[in-house]
Amino acid sequence: MFKALELFSGIGAFAQAAGKHKIQVVAAFDQDPRANATYKLNHGLMPKSRNLDSISADELPAADLWWMSPPCQPYSVRGNQKGLQDPRARSLVNLLGHVKSHRPKAIMLENVLGFRDSDAHKLAADTFAGLNYECHLIEHSPTDFGVPMRRPRLYLVATAAGVTFRSPELRKSADIELKSFIRPEFDEALIVSEKDFDKYSCSLHIVKPTDRQAYAICFTSGYWKSFKSSGTYVQTGEGKIRRFSPEEIVALMGFSSDFAFPDNLTMQAKLHLAGNTVDVRSIEYMLNGLSNLG
Ligand SMILES: C[S@@+](CC[C@H](N)C(=O)[O-])C[C@H]1O[C@@H](n2cnc3c(N)ncnc32)[C@H](O)[C@@H]1O
Repeated sequence: MFKALELFSGIGAFAQAAGKHKIQVVAAFDQDPRANATYKLNHGLMPKSRNLDSISADELPAADLWWMSPPCQPYSVRGNQKGLQDPRARSLVNLLGHVKSHRPKAIMLENVLGFRDSDAHKLAADTFAGLNYECHLIEHSPTDFGVPMRRPRLYLVATAAGVTFRSPELRKSADIELKSFIRPEFDEALIVSEKDFDKYSCSLHIVKPTDRQAYAICFTSGYWKSFKSSGTYVQTGEGKIRRFSPEEIVALMGFSSDFAFPDNLTMQAKLHLAGNTVDVRSIEYMLNGLSNLG
């Protein structure tokens, strides 16, 4: 059994993946109380509600592996790609500064593709190289695993001396149809009003459950508020247009079928959390590629 820290833990994609491996998440950290309540409900551990911009090295428990999925806005087109100039990059810079004193055997980081050419990536790569970690970059989308959702993401795996990482062979299962993720029952709150439909119909990515080639585009944390490029919509049997539910989105992300959100969260909050999370299969893939960690 090896020990892991889940940093920027959200609803716990790492904890979900860790369940299939001999990994104990010893601590998780996130500043969002709604994410932390959802994490606790599903994974049993209460994340520490802490701003990672200023956490000190002493506050991080010892662990073999650090998993981190820091905010992507500094590197995404939507966030204006300000990189390290964006205050939302501070937490990553702070944590990179703590690698030297903790020296976890492996560090895994997830972000949008724009991270690759960013100054933050350069800082991370230089930090790891300076401490003799070996770095591996992997690009994945759920479509690589036969899942009908486009969500390309970059993953960085840094391994200390003695630990090895080899990209496992991608064993893509047969393509799964999008309709198998679409539930017949849904909350009325998911239906797009006629007024919004008239205003935004040109920008909406709409699928019909009967379309065998249908795929979902990347769901973002802004799916509730923004109609443009923030996720896919589905046509109902009555010809209405609705959003995907948070439960459908996390199923597309590879969470288990019994994953649940706390009852007291609003639909907007649940969709925000679901749109922020990480593809569980990609994390499992990377964990499968690690050896000599324990
Ligand atoms: C991209 S999401 C990661 C989601 C997570 N990996 C999951 O499985 O759901 C980024 C997360 O970092 C948290 N976060 C952002 N900035 C933070 C900071 N400075 N300190 C602590 N948490 C932060 C957000 O609340 C959000 O849950």
